[in-house]
Amino acid sequence: MGKSNQEWRNRQNRDPFVKRALKEGWRSRAVFKLEEINNKEKILYPGMTCMDLGSSPGSWSQYTSLKLKEKVEIIALDILPMDYLPAVEFVQGDFSDDEFFNSILLLLKNRKIDLVMSDMAPNISGIKISDQARSMHLVELALDIAKKILKKRGNFICKLFQGYGSEIFIKEVRQEFEKVKVFKPKSSRPDSREVYLIAKSYLG
Ligand SMILES: C[S@@+](CC[C@H](N)C(=O)[O-])C[C@H]1O[C@@H](n2cnc3c(N)ncnc32)[C@H](O)[C@@H]1O
Repeated sequence: MGKSNQEWRNRQNRDPFVKRALKEGWRSRAVFKLEEINNKEKILYPGMTCMDLGSSPGSWSQYTSLKLKEKVEIIALDILPMDYLPAVEFVQGDFSDDEFFNSILLLLKNRKIDLVMSDMAPNISGIKISDQARSMHLVELALDIAKKILKKRGNFICKLFQGYGSEIFIKEVRQEFEKVKVFKPKSSRPDSREVYLIAKSYLG
């Protein structure tokens, strides 16, 4: 095993959120970020339809489906496979591929939805400038689909890595939504540049 793999394993073993996720049966520690966001902003409610971008292994969809007692419709997608969850329609594909992006729009048949949430993150290559560019491309795509499919007053949540392009992106989101906050959940690793953008009430 390589040194960085070993370091990753050591960190996972020490991480209280990994332990809690395992104990409580969540598919990943990412669940606690959505839980914190929802406790703060109440973005999940029964009867809603939402899209979960970058959904695998599935803890955000799992949390949403359980929390709303399956009174929800979730369209989840990821480049990686994801196991079945009730109330979730999963589609596998690369969101940065135009054809796949358009197939998701077709799937909705012009229906508008209440929430777009994105936890997408590219595989890290270690080359900072290109990792940042790839992660900015994913948030731009998430905003693009949000603008196409959200109902007026709908909400948008997205993982964002602070760095080149992130401030301009936040300004762009502010033009489209009534309230926009940058939030760093306690369960987000302190040494990561990851934050979540919580954008409420799409102006349409
Ligand atoms: C941090 S994980 C998401 C964890 C998930 N929210 C959960 O609760 O289990 C980020 C996900 O983004 C996905 N992703 C990255 N690039 C993508 C792309 N171009 N299209 C679709 N999914 C992508 C990855 O495959 C990965 O599963």
